[in-house]
Amino acid sequence: NHPFSVNEKGHLEIGNVDTVELANEYGTPLYVYDVAKVRKNCRAFINTFTKLGVKAQVTYASKAFSTIAILEVINQEGLSLDVVSEGELYTALKADFPTEKIHLHGNNKSEAELIMAIDNNIGCIIIDNFYEIELLDRLLKEKNKQMDVLFRVTPGVESETHQYIMTGNEDSKFGFNLQNGQIEHAYHMVQGHPNIKLKGLHCHIGSQIFTTKSFTLAIEMLFTLIAKWNQTDNFIPEVMNFGGGFGIRYTKDDRPLPQAEHVEKIVETVESEITKLSIPMPEIWIEPGRSIVGDAGITLYTVGSMKSIPNVREYVAIDGGMADNIRPALYQAKYEGIIANKADKAPTKTVSIAGKCCESGDMLIWDLPVASIEHNDILAVFSTGAYGYAMASNYNRFQKPAVVFVEDGTAQLVVKRETLDDIIKNDLSYTKNSNLTG
Ligand code: LLP
Repeated sequence: NHPFSVNEKGHLEIGNVDTVELANEYGTPLYVYDVAKVRKNCRAFINTFTKLGVKAQVTYASKAFSTIAILEVINQEGLSLDVVSEGELYTALKADFPTEKIHLHGNNKSEAELIMAIDNNIGCIIIDNFYEIELLDRLLKEKNKQMDVLFRVTPGVESETHQYIMTGNEDSKFGFNLQNGQIEHAYHMVQGHPNIKLKGLHCHIGSQIFTTKSFTLAIEMLFTLIAKWNQTDNFIPEVMNFGGGFGIRYTKDDRPLPQAEHVEKIVETVESEITKLSIPMPEIWIEPGRSIVGDAGITLYTVGSMKSIPNVREYVAIDGGMADNIRPALYQAKYEGIIANKADKAPTKTVSIAGKCCESGDMLIWDLPVASIEHNDILAVFSTGAYGYAMASNYNRFQKPAVVFVEDGTAQLVVKRETLDDIIKNDLSYTKNSNLTG
């Protein structure tokens, strides 16, 4: 029930490419992206705004998966880009992403990050806190420049998702709180800073959200502020940004809404709010990350050791795990998978997929129904395109896997597999000898 096909050899295909051949050619673990699916996800958002005749920026949250190649695709599809660090901004610059379409986020932006953003004339900075207002103002004055900004508001809306990825609730490290007047204070503060151009408001209420309810609530709350500022100072927002968080399907229990439905509901809610206030329609920005790349990516692994505990469980270990996908260990995230070289065979038993990190918690999938399973089978895990490679680590000094893009029946390497020399490339010897004796 995943949108991938099976060829006449009984092998799983992605983008019309045989996954078993990919595993043979590039090795495993291997991240594989169906580029056509990425494009389709981008267009689902963009086309809905176009159809509704609403000026919008669909901003890809590059934290979900940032490499030069993916940013090139995102740029081809006409999206804007959200970056949260020097590293993400540097990747965007190296991908020749148009700087005016780059937005900088972060709850503790460093001076270096802000300088890099200002010097490269990026389109917008989403200001998170009071310290940042002062810091940005000083830097802009020093450089005699201006910057468009949005304020990140914490509307106090609890989204229905895992606590670690819930961000819009009141007790959050992000943004100016709405309830306790912080946002009002920020608004007044910025009036005295002519180099900072406040274009509107931003909120991001969480991630992997399946309903439109929390979005609607958050939008209504942001407009209570707009209403107030409109009355006192004639403030009219040019931009309203409602963040990302649109849920995707990982397992059969997930029922995501089509991208279009989220967009339609957001637009409908904003339209009703501006009608009440008799102000023009602002440009609407959203920041999807997961819903652009999540279901476009799979990870291929090779099956290695197995351990059977009679009447308890069969463990099947693969050649990756929490170093290439930390989401199960960190969020108890669930995935589905299939034996790629037996994709035409019906499941006959249930096994649990163990990673190879030295951690009991490194279990990729509990209770996965599979066809018969043997050493050197290829396991494909679905929907690993977001926050997989992006959150990969070198724990246990594993080398980060390669990334391959497939489209129209051909594959192309876009991130090389790390080598053992990459693992030690920043290590230096310690030259001081110990004088300790017995
Ligand atoms: N905008 C802002 C301000 C964000 O903080 C985020 C995600 C996004 C947009 C994109 O959200 P998305 O559309 O991808 O849900 N590592 C976690 C997810 C953390 C999300 C952090 N912020 C995971 O693997 O589930």
